[in-house]
Amino acid sequence: MDFLTDPFLVSPHRFDGPVLVTGAGGCIGAWVVSVLTRSGVQCVAADLHDNRARPALILGEDASAALDWETCDVTDGAAVGALADRHGIRAIIHLAGLQVPFCAANPALGARVNVEGTINIFQAARNAGIKRTVYASSVASVALTEGDRYKATLYGAYKLANEQTARIYWDDWGVPAVGLRPNVVYGVGRDQGMSSLTTAAIHAAALVQDFEIPYTGPYSWLYAGEAAAAFIAAVSQDGAGAHVFDLNGRCETIEKSLSILQGLENMVQVSAEGDEFPFPPDLDEAALRAHVPAYAKVSLEEGIAATYRAFKQLASENRLPPLPA
Ligand SMILES: NC(=O)c1ccc[n+]([C@@H]2O[C@H](COP(=O)([O-])OP(=O)(O)OC[C@H]3O[C@@H](n4cnc5c(N)ncnc54)[C@H](O)[C@@H]3O)[C@@H](O)[C@H]2O)c1
Repeated sequence: MDFLTDPFLVSPHRFDGPVLVTGAGGCIGAWVVSVLTRSGVQCVAADLHDNRARPALILGEDASAALDWETCDVTDGAAVGALADRHGIRAIIHLAGLQVPFCAANPALGARVNVEGTINIFQAARNAGIKRTVYASSVASVALTEGDRYKATLYGAYKLANEQTARIYWDDWGVPAVGLRPNVVYGVGRDQGMSSLTTAAIHAAALVQDFEIPYTGPYSWLYAGEAAAAFIAAVSQDGAGAHVFDLNGRCETIEKSLSILQGLENMVQVSAEGDEFPFPPDLDEAALRAHVPAYAKVSLEEGIAATYRAFKQLASENRLPPLPA
C-alpha cells in the first residue's frame, strides 16, 4: 500500500528530533504516523488506547506494530508533560479530539478532551521549550462565526476556544503554534463523524454495494494524505506567532464524485439525496500554502481512485473493515 503515502514523503532533515503525534489511532493521525515513519522521521504515536487498526490499514500490520506507541489521555496534563520529557519531543502534531456527534452526546467530556486537552499540549510545549506545535482546529469554528448560514456546534465552539488559547500562549509566554482548520477529510481510515459518508460511499463501491450519500451540492474534499502532509509541513520549521489557517482540499460537488465512482465501478448505484452539507465548502487555503513548505495537492479524481484502489486491495487481503453502520 506504499502508493497511499508515496506522494507525501518528506525529508527527515527537516526535523531536529522526535515528533509527538496525539490521536495517532484516528484517521488523520494514522496518515501522519504512516507518512512520518515511511519518511524516516522519528515519531511517537500517542492515543487514549493502543488501537493501531487505522495505521495498519495504511502502513501495514508489521510497520504499525513496530510504531513507538504511548497510551496517554490528553486530559492528563502531567502525563502529557512527562511523555514529552521522556522522549525529548521537539515537535507536536496534536490531533486527539472528539468529533461533532461525540461532543453533542457528552458536552462536558467534549470540552475536557478538545479544550483542556489542547491546553495541556500548549503547556507541555511551553515547559519543554518546543517551537513546533500544530493543532487541529476545524471548519466548524468558521461555520460558528459566519452568521446563521451554517451549523453552529459545541465542537466548533471548543475549536474556536483553542484558537484563542493559542493566541494567548503566544502573546503571554511566546509559545508558537499553528492551528489548521481542516474541512471534510476523506480517505482510508475515515470511518466516523458526521462527514464520513463520502468515504463510506467509496468503501461501498469497492464492496460492490449500492449507497446513498445524504447530501448534495458543493462539498469540501480534503484527501486524508494531503491533510496529513499539511500538518507535517506545519511542524517542519520553527514557529513564531499563533497562526490559524484554513485547510480545504478541493471544492467539488457530491454529484461529480458520483460520476467518478461510477466510472471506477459501474456495477453499483451510488446516489445522493438531501440538502447541502451545513459547513462552508470552499475555504481559501492560499495563506497556509504560502506559510509552510510545499506539499502535494490531490485532485478529486486522484483521491477517490487511490481510496477505491486501497479498499479493493484491503478486501483482497481480507483486511477491509466492515462498512461503518
Ligand atoms: N476528519 C475530519 O474531517 C476533520 C475535520 C476537521 C477537523 N478535524 C479534527 O482533526 C483531528 C483528527 O481528526 P480525525 O478525523 O483523525 O479524528 P478521529 O476521531 O478519527 O481520531 C481522533 C483520535 O483522538 C483520540 N482521542 C480521543 N480522546 C482522547 C483523549 N482523551 N486522549 C488521547 N486521545 C484521544 C481517539 O482515540 C482517536 O484515535 C480532530 O481533532 C478533529 O476534530 C477532523
